[in-house]
Amino acid sequence: MTNKDTAAERVKTLKTAIDYHNRRYHQLDAPEITDAKYDDLMRELQALETEFPSLAAPDSPTQRVGAPPLNKFAPVAHLTPMLSLANAFSAEEIREFDLRCRRFLGSEASIRYIVEPKLDGLAVNLDYERGAFVVGSTRGDGTVGEDVTLNLRTIPAIPLVIPRGRDDAPEGAAVPTVPERIEVRGEVCMEREAFRNLNRRREAEGEAPFANPRNAAAGSLRQLDSRVTAKRPLTMFCYAIGAAQGVAFRTQGEVLRALSAWGFTVNELIKPAADIEECIRYYHRIGEIRDGLPYEIDGIVIKVDDLSLQERLGFVARSPRWALACKFASIGEQTLIDAIIVQVGRTGVLTPVAVMRPVRVGGVMVGRATLHNQDEIDRKDIRIGDTVIVQRAGDVIPEVVEVVKALRTGAEEPFVMPMLCPECGSRIVRLDGEAAHRCIGMACPAQIRERIAHFASRGGLDIEGLGEKMVTQLVTNGLIADPADLYFLTGEQLLGLERIADKSASNLLAAIDRSKTPALDRLIYALGIRHVGEATAKRLSSTYGTLTALAAATPEELEKIRDIGPEVATSIAGFFREPTNLRVIEKLTRAGLAPREVSRPQTAPLTGKSFVFTGTLHRMSRGEAKALVESLGGYVTSAITKTTDYVVAGDAAGSKLDKARRDGIAILDEEAFFALTRDQMQ
Ligand code: IVH
Repeated sequence: MTNKDTAAERVKTLKTAIDYHNRRYHQLDAPEITDAKYDDLMRELQALETEFPSLAAPDSPTQRVGAPPLNKFAPVAHLTPMLSLANAFSAEEIREFDLRCRRFLGSEASIRYIVEPKLDGLAVNLDYERGAFVVGSTRGDGTVGEDVTLNLRTIPAIPLVIPRGRDDAPEGAAVPTVPERIEVRGEVCMEREAFRNLNRRREAEGEAPFANPRNAAAGSLRQLDSRVTAKRPLTMFCYAIGAAQGVAFRTQGEVLRALSAWGFTVNELIKPAADIEECIRYYHRIGEIRDGLPYEIDGIVIKVDDLSLQERLGFVARSPRWALACKFASIGEQTLIDAIIVQVGRTGVLTPVAVMRPVRVGGVMVGRATLHNQDEIDRKDIRIGDTVIVQRAGDVIPEVVEVVKALRTGAEEPFVMPMLCPECGSRIVRLDGEAAHRCIGMACPAQIRERIAHFASRGGLDIEGLGEKMVTQLVTNGLIADPADLYFLTGEQLLGLERIADKSASNLLAAIDRSKTPALDRLIYALGIRHVGEATAKRLSSTYGTLTALAAATPEELEKIRDIGPEVATSIAGFFREPTNLRVIEKLTRAGLAPREVSRPQTAPLTGKSFVFTGTLHRMSRGEAKALVESLGGYVTSAITKTTDYVVAGDAAGSKLDKARRDGIAILDEEAFFALTRDQMQ
């Protein structure tokens, strides 16, 4: 067998395994392998596809990692329009809907319905030709949407190819024939937990959080760079088809069963209802369990099950007569916005916050709610003086859901982001492609305050007694201007402050002193480098071992570290090139701050170095050699790429050795390899 044949075999095995694990993870919620193992499989497949581009199938799992950015989305016309639904809010209105249907059909008998949760996400259309996913689009105006194919391809719940028969289909489940062409429709959503984690990460990295899961899903899907979408935890529930050639269904139930058999995710709460009373019971029951569901819904949808009846019922305006959205009553409270203030975060991001007449929402008094950014305010048309409905989103964060426009007096004032920072007077800028406005002032007291509070926070150096209030007091009194100043504070200075007694002053000084030997990852996180959250800080700490080594890293080196992309790499390298930051780090060292040693290569020159093995090694197995490289901070790939640093050629090395020679890559024989690793271990 040729090299390529072997690779083709391996690609096939990897693809099957990754598809299987994707399904276990995303659809069945029952992963069998660790994320790290999964990443290994993906990397191996990626490397093989780079080496043999002809082996990269259009439905390869690697295709889900995203493609280079677009300039804008192209318009796409849907084959059949994407409609909206008539709304109902009570059992009475639901009965009226049933009466209307039966009157229209001239039928005395009860109608069989299908009842479904009304998912709160973003409607999309997926176009499959001969089983292959070709174009995906947003709803748009119902007739023409935006082409978001590249982004949709990154969503694990969307099959890239409809299988002709599935090995993992439940036993006895017939997989319907794959149609010539079919439009599959559903809702792209972000689950609550994934949303909370994403926001936590964004906040830790100095990014503005999303208002709610729906916005997070919409924002993630409308990215021009699909590599960004690929990192967002999106999922999709399918609930309908549009145009279909080469298949015929009799009922909505059949449609959903086929979608499920083809590998689409169909919501598990969907069920048939024998008559309208059963639909109403479902409406109440789902209303009760709604808050406990892993995803957000805003009602239920009732659909006539029989497709021939649907056809007879037809449409009024842009809504079908055969379906009804039954919304849940809002659980929000009404209140008045007195003012919109602007808060400045540690990275200079400006967050508008509504200051409201306090109201009790879900048992908690709420007087403030973040309005996230200018776009969000414009979209909801929120003005100062407006009466609004406030809800607690994702269980905790208060959110302004909507404006009660009927109560407007005309005296309400629109909000505009200030052009100068309210805290320091520096210019406010809005970078291309960002929702956030930022203050560019280096000496902005708000940023100083937030940076120091972040430094001392739980995830950072965890300095007890140094909360926001104390930091503000210290900054306002001119005692500190950066985190390093903390270590030069004296008891006398603290006692000069208002409401600080002897005891609390000495406690604070002791806590500051105790923080002088932090774990390196805590210190890296505490520095507040943009895009560096706790997980990235850990990875940097274990890769570099010391702050000095990290500070010397180039963006190219950093990018070789797992999960670190160009944006993060540039941010890290940029941080350590900034003289002000270097001065703070130098001052920290002078103050005696010394991170604990990390049990990893201290100045590992193998850090970020990539190795390819070819041929047979005699002194250890490939697996052992790989572990050795990794223990020294390097990594191993199976194919030679642009970033390969060394090719280790054992006996009977093949085409990779030739390629390495052609590409001018450093070639080590077994001896030289061991010599290199020995040098590093001493
Ligand atoms: S059926 C003609 N089913 O609600 C049928 N829609 O107000 C149209 N939605 O744009 C859609 N869950 O975004 C249907 N189970 C469900 C749904 C659902 C959420 C959304 C969808 C649509 C909007 C209509």
